[in-house]
Amino acid sequence: MTVIEIAAPGGPEQLRTAVRPVPKPAENEVLVRVEAAGVNRPDVMQRQGRYPPPAGASDLPGMEIAGEIVQLGAKVSGVSVGNKVTALLPGGGYAGYAIVAAPLAMPIPQGLSMVEAAAIPETFLTVWTNLFERGRCKAGDVVLIHGGTSGIGTTAIQLAKAWGASVYATAGSEKKARACEALGAVRGIDYKTEDFVEVIRAATKGYGVDITLDMVAGTYVQRNLDIAAVEGRVVTISLLGGSRAEINVGMILVKRLTLTGSTLRSRTVAQKAAVADAVRENVWPLIESGEVRPVIFKTFPLAEASEAHRLMESSDHIGKIVLTV
Ligand SMILES: NC(=O)c1ccc[n+]([C@@H]2O[C@H](COP(=O)([O-])OP(=O)(O)OC[C@H]3O[C@@H](n4cnc5c(N)ncnc54)[C@H](OP(=O)(O)O)[C@@H]3O)[C@@H](O)[C@H]2O)c1
Repeated sequence: MTVIEIAAPGGPEQLRTAVRPVPKPAENEVLVRVEAAGVNRPDVMQRQGRYPPPAGASDLPGMEIAGEIVQLGAKVSGVSVGNKVTALLPGGGYAGYAIVAAPLAMPIPQGLSMVEAAAIPETFLTVWTNLFERGRCKAGDVVLIHGGTSGIGTTAIQLAKAWGASVYATAGSEKKARACEALGAVRGIDYKTEDFVEVIRAATKGYGVDITLDMVAGTYVQRNLDIAAVEGRVVTISLLGGSRAEINVGMILVKRLTLTGSTLRSRTVAQKAAVADAVRENVWPLIESGEVRPVIFKTFPLAEASEAHRLMESSDHIGKIVLTV
């Protein structure tokens, strides 16, 4: 099968086409013929040598795919050869075939193309487990999403809005701020020209935000505390702006704040399956009704994975980048 390998840690040019044997599924796994593979920022970090795959995972990049099951492991039940699925995997998605833990192969929501389906697992499961499970998002909450036009951000804005939250989102240009509003944010904030703390404080008449979903950290951490409402939750999912921060810890006490965060990739199959089940139950109906959709910015053929990574690193995209196989 054709795969995209990381030849050595480095730039996008290190993504190279290669030929490898089709892998064999273990007893609780299925083999999927990949039709589309989502590109995520952690793939870029893996290529740079900053985010190694967990032990036992494929060394190939790619954490979400859509395709058709072509082989079942000996102990797999509940899915069949020929099923079209979208799946979360710890690696190995940039390939003609991929191994998937059976509980993480989900039926494709009705009405979605393979490209749209491939854009769902990593992003929707991450948003669900962080914004809803850890952040306890509910109707009426004021929510702040940093990186509003990222794959994660475009999903989080739509889901929070669908839940009845009032959403603010930051992004790196005026155009992106307006794109956040088109997705359902009450106000997109161009962080290059506006201070999100000041904008939200004025817009909420001093109330602040109940939940912040933060992929930046660094200097944002104190500002997230500044704009948090009493009993607010700050959920960190990445460290794009740096892993160290100096903060006024007193604010946590005075406002009774919760600072939390998580990563998805390192969890066990059972833990991921629990998140996948919750997403299927709570989010699939919203996707099938059209209330929430993955936002596809651009597709590239698998062989042009390096171009896909260049686009992602430019941060010019709004929504998801997907490889077609
Ligand atoms: N915790 C988890 O389980 C988990 C799972 C998946 C992804 N993630 C993280 O979530 C984030 C979004 O992932 P994604 O795949 O949706 O990525 P993406 O589409 O590439 O979006 C990342 C966005 O972050 C913004 N950004 C802000 N500060 C940045 C900085 N210092 N450097 C680069 N970009 C910066 C950029 O938008 P602007 O130009 O508008 O600033 C960029 O478009 C990533 O950091 C990823 O590692 C975490």
